[in-house]
Amino acid sequence: MRSFFFIVIFCAVTIDAWSDGKQRRFKNDFKFGVSTAAYQVEGAWDIDGKGESIWDRYLHNHPELVTDGRNGDVASDSYHNYKRDVELLRELGVDFYRFSISWPRVLPSGFPHDQNEHGFQYYDNLIDELLHYNITPMITLYHFDLPQKLQDLGGWVNPLSIDWFVDYARVVFNKYAHKVPYWITINQPNAICVFGYGDTILAPAINAKGVSEYECTKNILLAHAKVYRLYEKEFKKKFKGSVGISMSINWSDPLNNKTENVQAVEKYREFDIGLYLDPIWSKNGDFPSIVKKTIEKKSKQQGFYRSRLPTLSHEEIKLLKGSADFLGINHYTTFLIKPSTKNIHSPSYADDMGVEIVFGDQWEQSASYWLRSAPYGLYKMCIFLNLRYDYPTMFITENGWSTKTGLWDKSRAETMRRYLNALLLAIEDGTEVKGYTVWSLIDNIEWNAGSSERFGLYEVDFESEEKTRTARLSAHVYKRIIQKRIIEENWEPKNLKISKPKRVDL
Ligand code: NOJ
Repeated sequence: MRSFFFIVIFCAVTIDAWSDGKQRRFKNDFKFGVSTAAYQVEGAWDIDGKGESIWDRYLHNHPELVTDGRNGDVASDSYHNYKRDVELLRELGVDFYRFSISWPRVLPSGFPHDQNEHGFQYYDNLIDELLHYNITPMITLYHFDLPQKLQDLGGWVNPLSIDWFVDYARVVFNKYAHKVPYWITINQPNAICVFGYGDTILAPAINAKGVSEYECTKNILLAHAKVYRLYEKEFKKKFKGSVGISMSINWSDPLNNKTENVQAVEKYREFDIGLYLDPIWSKNGDFPSIVKKTIEKKSKQQGFYRSRLPTLSHEEIKLLKGSADFLGINHYTTFLIKPSTKNIHSPSYADDMGVEIVFGDQWEQSASYWLRSAPYGLYKMCIFLNLRYDYPTMFITENGWSTKTGLWDKSRAETMRRYLNALLLAIEDGTEVKGYTVWSLIDNIEWNAGSSERFGLYEVDFESEEKTRTARLSAHVYKRIIQKRIIEENWEPKNLKISKPKRVDL
């Protein structure tokens, strides 16, 4: 254990590609991008026939839950500003743009019989504008905004949600498979199930602890797998695209080298990573045995007649195994773990895990309470995934930093540099990573933090009619990294103005 702890500390202080003086470079086929999500940027929540989403309902019913009262009704108004967004992408020089389709914008009731042509027109326009400028679209099919009508039928805890999602995906693939090479089925299943069904942190805020998290997990993973198989069978040969899923994977280390903390972190990783990745990437498929055993034992003790973790049948295990062309990783920070000492609600996912998360106060703090800068964690996470899942093909689909308002976001620029350096080291050590995505292109609605936590490379003036976008320092730094494909220590632009390119018809 001692040597393990030593490695942790050692990495924490030396994971800096600059420290050995060697200049590392991103290969020419490595892709750089930025990301947004429909609810967070589009606005136009009830315009042109869009249906209500669970986030519309949740924040309309509970405005008091949003830190600064700003919800997604208007957001960054990308619905009307998509051309400006594409201008920003061109300024940055990114290879791809990851955005999500709002299911209720295109299928207002959730079902395919009732398609909203205006909604599709918006995505047609955005995709065509991107392609016009040689920017590759990467589409997330589901980024937290379920049609409310489907939630009224139970949402992701209803096993029928698997078919609803497949039907929706079929409609979208039929429209866009010929134009879009990268697809992400679901964004952060673990956040959806744990925070949305087992808690009130995210919509639909069901708060049915201990049961709904796992029902949701099973359904959502199967929904992903079925959509993967749909693409594989009916679209892949013709269009040659790739389909993945984005998982939230932050790194976790023991609070210190005490055996109990080391054991706690091992358990945490099984619940936080293994539960969601093993069914798709492990050799044998299925949920991790430690998770299965723990929940089964606890369920019995609690008086349940069966385990609260549903089983996966032989066919389901087969369906899930290998159901991704790439692993999308949303990585932000590192947590320190120790066994739980608090009274946790039982039954619950948190109680099953039995650990407590500590936010390492030795690391720089962002504007979000949960987000501190610990780039070594990105490196360690890559190595962990390589060993556990035999060098999976990865895409960093999100990495970012929050600040308050202001254009001089040195902390974001610096953190981005350090995380990219850690990524270069991980690549050098064998990690198969195809690309890197900054969250986010522009300031947006950070769910129930509203606009109080800014993640954008571009600042958005939410008070202005046009939702004016202005480049921050970090936009200049990212542009330079993309241009040079290396990370220069302390580089800062001389002239702080990125000129606005004219739209050129090719
Ligand atoms: C991950 C989520 O996918 C995204 O919606 C969110 O804004 C960022 N994390 C930052 O919290």
